[in-house]
Amino acid sequence: MATALIPSPPPRQTKYQGARISTASMRGSSRFLSINGKSVNTPVVLASMAGITNAAYVLERAAHVGAAFIGGFSLDAASQEASKKMAEAGRIEFFGGFEEIAAELAMLEGSDVVIGLNLRGSNPEAYAAATRAFGTDVVYEIDAHCRQQPMIDAHCGESLLHNIGVLCDIIRVLHAKGVCISVKMRAGVTDDRLLARKLWVAGADILHIDLMDTGYTRLRQIRNSCPLILIANNGITSPERMMDMFSHGADMVSLARSANVPTLQHLDRSIRVISEETGWYNAPKQLCRGGDIRALTFCCMPVKQCPLLPTLENLGMDCQDYLALKQGLTVNSSLSQGDQTCFGSLAWCCKSSTPCMFRDMVLKSLPLPKTEYMAMKRELSAGIVEKIFADVPTDC
Ligand SMILES: Cc1cc2nc3c(=O)[nH]c(=O)nc-3n(C[C@H](O)[C@H](O)[C@H](O)COP(=O)(O)O)c2cc1C
Ligand code: SF4
Ligand code: SF4
Repeated sequence: MATALIPSPPPRQTKYQGARISTASMRGSSRFLSINGKSVNTPVVLASMAGITNAAYVLERAAHVGAAFIGGFSLDAASQEASKKMAEAGRIEFFGGFEEIAAELAMLEGSDVVIGLNLRGSNPEAYAAATRAFGTDVVYEIDAHCRQQPMIDAHCGESLLHNIGVLCDIIRVLHAKGVCISVKMRAGVTDDRLLARKLWVAGADILHIDLMDTGYTRLRQIRNSCPLILIANNGITSPERMMDMFSHGADMVSLARSANVPTLQHLDRSIRVISEETGWYNAPKQLCRGGDIRALTFCCMPVKQCPLLPTLENLGMDCQDYLALKQGLTVNSSLSQGDQTCFGSLAWCCKSSTPCMFRDMVLKSLPLPKTEYMAMKRELSAGIVEKIFADVPTDC
């Protein structure tokens, strides 16, 4: 029985991505984020493809990706039997078990790509056994994504999204082992907002979301529901599509079918340039332009009818708390300057891409380069989001 394996809950992370995502810094690789305690060089990720995504595949692309999920590997008898049936039906699968995984990880030693294992299993013990073999240096990605019938029949893959209790049991067991946990899932299979909250409460660190054809709408819903690192997946083949994801809540984007070197290189170069030029590679759109809750960092004082008021209401935050929060987080910083701006300080000012001569005059007089202004807005955003998600939900 799954529950027999579950230890008492470990201390839970209550801060917005706390150790999971580093705050803004324009120096070196930390301008993006950290995963499993390691800075990623670029927020472009290789998504797993069974039978294909192995160490050699990653090493060929290592110059243009920050993280990679090798596999999927089938862990237990049920998932291995499913892999066999899928191979008989013509799919490529990995069959080498733990020995193969160990050999692949050995080949990746010394690479600066953050490595994850995409794993299929039907119960917590299958995953616990993997942690005993592979330790804490890799990210453990639970495959709750595979839709192949043999995998579903084996109670693996997407079947876990219909048995969230089992999925959460797996997460709790992994969390108790002190490892970094990703959940690979499709959006739109179940109530994404509730699912995100449940996975957060159970102890997941990363949600790796195949958005199918839902676009960024579902991504924004998930961003607004939990403080986890989000990787957006499916059809990310151009800088435009990548930026759509970054400006609606993604921390990283991943590619599987289009993960050829020219495409990866193009995305990697684009996001490095954007990061250098703007100071915040995944800055949200303003709230009134469809941005996620990170965009509160760019919002005005609550003085007019606009999307700010319903957003605060949904968050259960009253206007006075919002005012005090932004004032408290910016006190004594350059963002507290700016008498000439609409609301008396840069704390209430818009994104740098929104033209404004008043804000720009203040920035010039301080002086504060726009990239540093945006880096400070990123830190302010992290503080706001940390406050919003300070309490782990008890209702799910
Ligand atoms: C041949 C193939 C094998 C795949 N195997 C896995 C797998 O083992 N585990 C998993 O989570 N996703 C698997 N996927 C899904 C991909 O990781 C990805 O979510 C999907 O292809 C959509 O992303 P893309 O548009 O970048 O290809 C596989 C996809 C393909 C095409
Ligand atoms: S407060 Fe300002 S930035 Fe925020 S939604 Fe309203 S008008 Fe837009
Ligand atoms: S001064 Fe400019 S940037 Fe600041 S809130 Fe007003 S319009 Fe926006």
